[in-house]
Amino acid sequence: MLAKVRKAVFPAAGLGTRFLPATKAMPKEMLNVVDKPIIQYGVEEAVNSGIHNIVIVTGRDKSPMEDHFDVSYELESMLRSRNKTELLNVARKISDLADIAYIRQKEALGLGHAVLKTAELVGDEPFATILPDDVIDAEVPCVKQLVRIYEQFHAPVLAVMEVAPDQISSYGCIEAEPVEFEGSTDKLFRVRNMVEKPKREEAPSNLAIIGRYVLTPDIFDCIRAVTPGAGGEIQLTDAIRMQLSSRQVYAYKFDGKRYDAGDKLGFLKATVELGLKHDSLGPAFREYLRSLSF
Ligand code: G1P
Repeated sequence: MLAKVRKAVFPAAGLGTRFLPATKAMPKEMLNVVDKPIIQYGVEEAVNSGIHNIVIVTGRDKSPMEDHFDVSYELESMLRSRNKTELLNVARKISDLADIAYIRQKEALGLGHAVLKTAELVGDEPFATILPDDVIDAEVPCVKQLVRIYEQFHAPVLAVMEVAPDQISSYGCIEAEPVEFEGSTDKLFRVRNMVEKPKREEAPSNLAIIGRYVLTPDIFDCIRAVTPGAGGEIQLTDAIRMQLSSRQVYAYKFDGKRYDAGDKLGFLKATVELGLKHDSLGPAFREYLRSLSF
């Protein structure tokens, strides 16, 4: 029987240099988009995809993230004593979201290395991997879309999207052939090859890997076997490429909008667009934006 995807790994040990000075003393995963930190979007996506066991790979100075998902007795008792039930529920809901385990990546040796840190906690079962910088707004959570493919094809699957040619060198890029899926041939692909951060002229396609994966546990041995790649780091992309010699890997052009919230401009876009969609703030925010002349 096919094993269920029950766990999600969040690499969150990066130094957040793209977002200095905001991230000098604060983890980038705790940057706030509208009314919650970036990492909470990812954790909610996992939970809404049916995944309740979360493993977060952290580094130094990441304790605000752990506190955020923990119970805050002080805050809760204050809210209770002031009869602020609604706010109390908001605070409670975060600590009740999921079971979260933390593991430290002591050296920043790359995304593959971060994922490898979770091998013991994940064990011998498939797992999702969520890069919290990528905030994805979707009707059906992106991870849920990938889990569906995994369940149908019994194979690892990566989220991809088309990007402009001058952007591809910021991503992992796949070379792939279309597979018919639910009557369409432009959503699902069988991966033939992949390369991390290719030069524009060497990119095999304009399909970029976005930070959502469903991986199988054999990936851990591949990560152990790869040598440092792009940027001198142990790359997850290189490990998945190694997997291609022993099994099929799929890529899925997910439905939804992705924001690179770890980048200053991407963060602003996420703030504006998710602000406009926010239940209570949206209408007033829209009115405010309309009133600006530029
Ligand atoms: C990572 C992955 C890359 C992927 C990207 C998506 O790169 O290594 O393959 O395309 O996330 O956000 P990073 O942005 O951490 O350099």
